[in-house]
Amino acid sequence: MITEIEVNKPEPIASGKKTESFKRGTDVQLTIEALEAGKSILITEFYNNGLSLLQELQTHLNRKFPNKSFQEQREFRLEYHKLSNLILIEIVGHKLAVKKSPRIGWLEKLYPETSDFLLSFPQIQGLNSAWQWYLNGISIPVLRNKIHPYYGTYFPTRFEHLKLFDNWLKRYKGPKKSAIDVGFGSGVLSLQMIKHGFQKVFGTDTNPNAIVGLAEFMGDTKLSRKIELDFGHLFGKWEKQTELIVFNPPWLPKSHDLDRIDEAIYYNENLFPDFFAGAKQRLLPEGKLVLIFSNLAQITNVTKEHPIEMELAEGGRFQLEKCLKKSVKAASEKTKRDQHWRSSEEVELWVLTNK
Ligand SMILES: C[S@@+](CC[C@H](N)C(=O)[O-])C[C@H]1O[C@@H](n2cnc3c(N)ncnc32)[C@H](O)[C@@H]1O
Repeated sequence: MITEIEVNKPEPIASGKKTESFKRGTDVQLTIEALEAGKSILITEFYNNGLSLLQELQTHLNRKFPNKSFQEQREFRLEYHKLSNLILIEIVGHKLAVKKSPRIGWLEKLYPETSDFLLSFPQIQGLNSAWQWYLNGISIPVLRNKIHPYYGTYFPTRFEHLKLFDNWLKRYKGPKKSAIDVGFGSGVLSLQMIKHGFQKVFGTDTNPNAIVGLAEFMGDTKLSRKIELDFGHLFGKWEKQTELIVFNPPWLPKSHDLDRIDEAIYYNENLFPDFFAGAKQRLLPEGKLVLIFSNLAQITNVTKEHPIEMELAEGGRFQLEKCLKKSVKAASEKTKRDQHWRSSEEVELWVLTNK
């Protein structure tokens, strides 16, 4: 049952924990020293006080790690992560207890049984921005309706790959009885297939939030009878053969950095071999296997390996029908720093068939 799935969310800290507090007028230096000594600090009075303390912490760490070498940037991030998460904020009756706070609906939705607790300020910032995305929704150029991504679920912020898939679906002439969407995230690919006339989509995801989110999004509508969800690894409980299997997998090999555990982005070495083995069993003889990928790992020199090319060269299971590529639009102002590689980033749509 989908309602019994436990979603990922920041672990609540019991209220009543004894901490020092920070508000306007509190000595910043002493507060940062307390954080460095591993003590928690509670933000009081105004929400803004939390923002200013984070700002001060950044300035402090920028002085401490002035060098922009990769190693120092990493240390900066780790230290910022550690110290900023000692900055706490109180929640009373599912609302932030300080004045001029944003309203964050996740506090009610994700913690129905706990009304009073503490969270760290960065966690609250994450919940707040996720609430804005969820509330306002995101317009997807190839879909009629907005999507409303659930907390902790992957959603697209660029759409080139969706356009490639849409164009491919437009030209697809095969049967449209059923398809499998591995790792559906916020459901965009499934929704595209339904839009193009697929009668049934069987989806999976290993992220419980994706399951709960898409189930909630579909509610009791016709869609919920067309898209069936399973909380499981790769193909989950779906055993039947289909004419189309799609997968927009994580695109970077997992590194050992502890701050890089996001399963939407990082894959382990078994993911692709296991995926292709499972796909071989479930793809109908004339079926199509569609994978979306990005050349990001290669252009940033994270790896030279391309898991799909490797399968084609060595797997003996599938052959290439076509590979469509589209370059990704120039980065926005916000990500200017990364522009040197962004400019050559391409998304790829791979169409494979049985050998
Ligand atoms: C790059 S996101 C793509 C999401 C969505 N299909 C889209 O195109 O926007 C990859 C998704 O695969 C899921 N995922 C990662 N490993 C998985 C696995 N072993 N089995 C099923 N889903 C997985 C992640 O949780 C994430 O939702």
